[in-house]
Amino acid sequence: MARPGLLALLLLLALPGQPSSLPQLDTSQGKASMADLILSALERATLFLQERLPGVNLDAVVGFQVLEEQLRGVQDKWAPDPLLRPLGLRAGQLAAKLTALLRQAVVYLQQTDPTYLREFQPSLQPGFWKLPHSWTRTNASLVYAWLDPHDSFSEDSSDLCLVQLLGTGTDHSQPCTLSDFCRALMTKAGCSGYSLSHQLLFFLWARMKGCTQSLFRQSQLYIGIFCANMMALNQRAQAAGYTYPTQDLFMENIMFCGIAGFSDFYKLRWLEAILSWQKQQEGCFGNPDTKDQEAPSAPPPPQHPLRRVRRREKLFTDGCSCHSTATAVGALGGFLYFLAAHPLANDGPHPATLSPPSGR
Ligand SMILES: *[C@@H]1O[C@H](CO)[C@@H](O)[C@H](O)[C@H]1NC(C)=O
Repeated sequence: MARPGLLALLLLLALPGQPSSLPQLDTSQGKASMADLILSALERATLFLQERLPGVNLDAVVGFQVLEEQLRGVQDKWAPDPLLRPLGLRAGQLAAKLTALLRQAVVYLQQTDPTYLREFQPSLQPGFWKLPHSWTRTNASLVYAWLDPHDSFSEDSSDLCLVQLLGTGTDHSQPCTLSDFCRALMTKAGCSGYSLSHQLLFFLWARMKGCTQSLFRQSQLYIGIFCANMMALNQRAQAAGYTYPTQDLFMENIMFCGIAGFSDFYKLRWLEAILSWQKQQEGCFGNPDTKDQEAPSAPPPPQHPLRRVRRREKLFTDGCSCHSTATAVGALGGFLYFLAAHPLANDGPHPATLSPPSGR
């Protein structure tokens, strides 16, 4: 598929620090074609949300809430450019549609999953997800020399720590509370997979909540270590041909580390890969092998017995996954946000880090 504008633009994005060595390009045009592609995918994914609304789980709602913030973050940035203005308007319209849909989704969750809803309510609040205003890159020297083969911790343990952090547990403790158990779990070295991405999410949410005391004084250090390792895992996933179900984790890593401000997750090849995984008919993301099957395909067996509805696994019979769709829209929305925030290559000075820094 020929997408010269897209390719040219992402070549620019892939080579920060050396834009002046590249030929002059109509980057406004490049941005416009790429933004159009991403927005079209996100509009289709939003139709999926709309059609499945009573059945989507909390994960999906969180993912689309992140997307809404990302869309709000781009809608005004493109107003001054006549080529990009219509795309900014489209982003604004999609954000407005999501506001209404997510409000409805919460009403359904109040019936289907009230406990999770209460525990994770803060992550659904407008303004909870603070998007980066400055960017950095992962540092490969922070990648673990070895991985702990017994690293996997259950979603329940992870949830317990997140709930403590948010202060939404039944014990009415303050936000930013940290038990010894969670301190050990969330700083454990050598983790990979979902354990690693949940360690990152923990420190990311600590940042969103404004936790700055004790362990959280070192949040940025841990965020740097975890995203360096998530980058290494994503590169391995790419080398292995993104076999399912790795795609889900791959997109989660881009979503979370992108929100953490690591711009090197926004790679052309990765964007193209994600766009190619969207089910054209349904607009969702999920199991690529399930095509119009009658029988519901079983989700991958959980590694741990769980006492509640598993947030991470809600698979519709057509292979649409709530979790994968959530991570996909969070990742794609991140690409869009980065695209809007990044200065054009021929716009004058090219600071490696954009200003102004956020209020961290
Ligand atoms: C990467 O991390 C190493 C080890 O902490 C450090 O010595 C080095 O300065 C870092 N590099 C960059 C570019 O930050």
